[in-house]
Amino acid sequence: MKDLSKKFFWGGAISANQAEGAYLEDGKLPSTTDTLISGPHMERFASFGKEIDLDKYYYPSHKAIDFYHHYKEDIKLFHEMGFNALRTSIAWSRIFPRGDEKEPNEKGLQFYDDLFDEMLKYGIEPIITITHYETPLFIAEKYGGWKSREMIGFFEKYCKVIFERYKDKVKIWLNFNEINSMTFMGILGAAMPVFRNSPDFFDVTYNAAHNMLVAAAKATKLCKEIVKDGKMGMMMAGQLIYAATCNPDDEWQALCENRRHFLFSDVMMRGHYPAYSKRFFRENNISIDIHDGDLELLKNNTCDFLAFSYYATMTASSDSSGNMTGNMAIGRDNPYLKKSEWGWIMDPMGLRLLMNQLYNRYEMPLFLVENGLGAKDEISEDGKIHDSYRIEYLKEHIEAFKEAMEDGVELMGYLPWGCIDLVSCSTGEMSKRYGFIYVDVDDNGNGTFKRVKKDSFDWYKKVINSGGTDLR
Ligand code: BG6
Repeated sequence: MKDLSKKFFWGGAISANQAEGAYLEDGKLPSTTDTLISGPHMERFASFGKEIDLDKYYYPSHKAIDFYHHYKEDIKLFHEMGFNALRTSIAWSRIFPRGDEKEPNEKGLQFYDDLFDEMLKYGIEPIITITHYETPLFIAEKYGGWKSREMIGFFEKYCKVIFERYKDKVKIWLNFNEINSMTFMGILGAAMPVFRNSPDFFDVTYNAAHNMLVAAAKATKLCKEIVKDGKMGMMMAGQLIYAATCNPDDEWQALCENRRHFLFSDVMMRGHYPAYSKRFFRENNISIDIHDGDLELLKNNTCDFLAFSYYATMTASSDSSGNMTGNMAIGRDNPYLKKSEWGWIMDPMGLRLLMNQLYNRYEMPLFLVENGLGAKDEISEDGKIHDSYRIEYLKEHIEAFKEAMEDGVELMGYLPWGCIDLVSCSTGEMSKRYGFIYVDVDDNGNGTFKRVKKDSFDWYKKVINSGGTDLR
């Protein structure tokens, strides 16, 4: 089997809104995510756009795990595990608190200077997502999120500022976190609510998508101009959808559903809207407002690599009955596979399949920048967290991506999600934990915020030290 100790990024991934907390500190103003409460999906996202009511609700991103004040301690622990890379994001609303200011917020910029310096001190490469499910609330409300073309200008300015400031520290950038998720999670992905049953759902969504694609292409262009040796990756939610049966109608359904996700990577990796999009747009009354120069911009500014998250697979059927599963992207159950406590289908083989598909399609490097098991962890009587279930899950997925590499796929690295426990994106819970490091804080923000190593901490350290050969 491959020895992945060389030229392979081993580390973990977090995001600003799920880890930092300090939501109004040093000049920051609320982002879209700061208006979300925790709780079941519908409840959590229904709070979007409503006045923040601190007497009535707990807003998990406000404190999160207080990475803003604990980052030195956390990075030291990541170093102890042997990380040579850490993926995190910049909170846009720390740099431009309202989103439309003329000048950036110096204190916000300084925080990331300090953070990146701390990583570099330990030889940890910062892999930076420009925006991970948060947008300055002011511009999101004023312009209605990415359905407005005005957003492109704000984003472009933000990118220019961060590229210029961090060009010597950050070389690997990702534009939008899971850009394809904006079609099913509008608030997170596109800073706007989208209602599937509203008559203009498709038109609004795909126009917003176009604006984001244009903004991403502009970011790539700026990155090349400003950051010497800079690399820009797209980031998609890895969503592999199987046909529920070998009935050709199910197969067709699966192809169509997969194309909803590929549409984004096809544009960002190949530089043009794919042929199949024409019929899809026509049949769903989508009329994209393409401005002069947009298509050329997309063509000339494709991404250098494809980063993706991978948690679960789904199935598609031409028959509308059957159980639905998952709490973010909703799909059908798969009778061959088990589910996590949160109903996410666990499918290591799906990772190998997806990687093969993506690589066959684009022949460009892939980067697995999220993967993991959200589970409830208990502190045992010995004061430790024995998370063998997490080790098992990760082991099977590492084996799967190593097989994909044997199949010929080029993979830049592996950054498991929530390498330190953080707030769940879909539910806002702390109890849905992914980390190698436990953080003592509960779903209501109570706790000491103390960091405790889980069993998986030592296991992952051994995996990294052995270049991925010792998975026991
Ligand atoms: C990805 C997101 O979709 O899934 C992360 O990029 C998120 O932000 C992760 O946290 C896991 O989802 P959840 O809902 O379990 O936190």
